[in-house]
Amino acid sequence: MCPLFFFLAVIPLAFAALSPHASVAAVAARNNGSFTAGQPKVVTYQQQFLQAHNEARTAAGVPPLVWNSTLQLDSLRYANELRHRCSTTPLYAWGTDGVYGRNLFKGSRMDIPGTPTEAVASWVDEKRCYHRRSNTCAAPDGRTCGGYTQVVWRATTQVGCARRRCGSSFDDTVAVCEYYPPGNIEGQRPY
Ligand SMILES: *[C@@H]1O[C@H](CO)[C@@H](O)[C@H](O)[C@H]1NC(C)=O
Ligand SMILES: *[C@@H]1O[C@H](CO)[C@@H](O)[C@H](O)[C@H]1NC(C)=O
Repeated sequence: MCPLFFFLAVIPLAFAALSPHASVAAVAARNNGSFTAGQPKVVTYQQQFLQAHNEARTAAGVPPLVWNSTLQLDSLRYANELRHRCSTTPLYAWGTDGVYGRNLFKGSRMDIPGTPTEAVASWVDEKRCYHRRSNTCAAPDGRTCGGYTQVVWRATTQVGCARRRCGSSFDDTVAVCEYYPPGNIEGQRPY
């Protein structure tokens, strides 16, 4: 048994420069991830999601992921459904089940919504329960290591994510990341 805690990350300062209401799609549309020297660096939701994944992947010794806007759009559609219930219970029979891997997150906080960095950190935190040598997971009942193993799944090359505020709340958010090729294949090791 190993403890998993609800991860409360410090919000990166750059995040404060962003309107919390900016949609992931709009941010993605005006920033393709490249910077020109001299421009102020604004860290978009997309870059936060990608950077958090790639830091965990580097730590595991696997190659970085690239962003894929098809996965982002499907994640946004998925998050648009989750936000009604404001829950991470998977949707029933979503069209891309099995085609893409998927991680779900719910952030709830009084004043600061769950950021992309926190969402990815909540999955990576499962690492503390994962035993690589035996490829087993000692997470508490009802929890798995599947979020972490998908983040660091070696054969996965692409990711796309989205986050939405819950319909009933200004404080709660849901976040979805989708992965291709999908990870967490039974009987295989992540890395
Ligand atoms: C990103 O945008 C910059 C500036 O508009 C452009 O020079 C660059 O080629 C683009 N990169 C990609 C990968 O689309
Ligand atoms: C993004 O993912 C979709 C679905 O797997 C794929 O069809 C598409 O070619 C990918 N796009 C890029 C730029 O790799």
